[in-house]
Amino acid sequence: MHDNEVLRAIRGRRSVIRFTDQAVTDDELAAILEAGRWAPSYINSQPWEFLVVRDAKSRGRLGEILRRITVAWQGFAAAPVSIVVMADPARDPRHLAEDGAAAAQNMCLAAHSLGLATFWAGLHCVPEAKGSAESDLKAALGIPPGMQLVAVLPVGHPAYVATTSRRPLSEIVHLETYGRLMSDRGA
Ligand SMILES: Cc1cc2nc3c(=O)[nH]c(=O)nc-3n(C[C@H](O)[C@H](O)[C@H](O)COP(=O)(O)O)c2cc1C
Repeated sequence: MHDNEVLRAIRGRRSVIRFTDQAVTDDELAAILEAGRWAPSYINSQPWEFLVVRDAKSRGRLGEILRRITVAWQGFAAAPVSIVVMADPARDPRHLAEDGAAAAQNMCLAAHSLGLATFWAGLHCVPEAKGSAESDLKAALGIPPGMQLVAVLPVGHPAYVATTSRRPLSEIVHLETYGRLMSDRGA
């Protein structure tokens, strides 16, 4: 099977929820944001907006809010920077969630390629209920109500080596017609 730097990065990236106190440099952050900008999007609509949160008090507040949706909330205060990934429905009303996800994944991979780690807290679509984590997060950071939140990505130096697993391709890949799995052909 082929292997190269990109394929290794895709396989090697892990979600990490604890970070060391080592800083993320402006250059590293710029490279990560740049990777987000080069994601594909529906008819190249580029509906992304990336909000960078470095301020310690705001990161603490992020953690408090996201505590409601993830057990990894402490990572938001611990990571030196978090990126809120949003998509503007005015630019792409149709595929904005996928556009946002593609940008977020590009940024996670870019961070990994620099020896940094990320964690993906998924945020739900509009409309948000009053008092939900999504609406509180928008209020805390001044995000317009109509903006679609996609993810919050804390970025930092990993404090441990994370592991994970995946379903095998033989369970996932169908050949020619649905239900004819690779595994049925002895793959
Ligand atoms: C859309 C999305 C939402 C996620 N939301 C959460 C979350 O709320 N809580 C959580 O613990 N992990 C969340 N994660 C991270 C997953 O738990 C993680 O990606 C998965 O366990 C696979 O591990 P890996 O990222 O290290 O490969 C989310 C990931 C994605 C893509």
